[in-house]
Amino acid sequence: MKIAIINGPNLNLLGKRETDIYGNMPFEKFFDQLKAKYPQITFSYYQSNIEGELINELQRIGYDYDGIVLNPAGYTHTSVAIGDAIAAIKTPVVEVHISNVHAREDFRKLSHVSGKSAGSIFGLGLKGYELAIEYLLSQK
Ligand code: DQA
Repeated sequence: MKIAIINGPNLNLLGKRETDIYGNMPFEKFFDQLKAKYPQITFSYYQSNIEGELINELQRIGYDYDGIVLNPAGYTHTSVAIGDAIAAIKTPVVEVHISNVHAREDFRKLSHVSGKSAGSIFGLGLKGYELAIEYLLSQK
């Protein structure tokens, strides 16, 4: 079972970025915990602040991996092209947001990704990534 986690812009700053919203844990530390919890899964992790690089990564793994957990961060609300990439690939994508995007500014309520994804999780903190993995495992 191969699962890819892809994080969009500014998520490299988790742990020091707006900690009241996104928490104190750097993603690398959380990822180590995930790898320990799911030794049976082969994970890949990719983060980029650049829209086209995220699309390149989706295309690279999107015909090979069993599942993708994607937090497109700010591009969620602006990127038709990331939505198109999810529609183009074969691997199912679960959209995850750490914060409850529906309880924040109105512009965060629009997602170009939700309608192309298998499902979406928001507002449950880093736990959302784990729940997305559980879903993908249950589909295997
Ligand atoms: C986010 C929510 C987005 O609105 C925001 O731009 C992010 C992070 C989240 O995980 O809660 O960068 O995707």
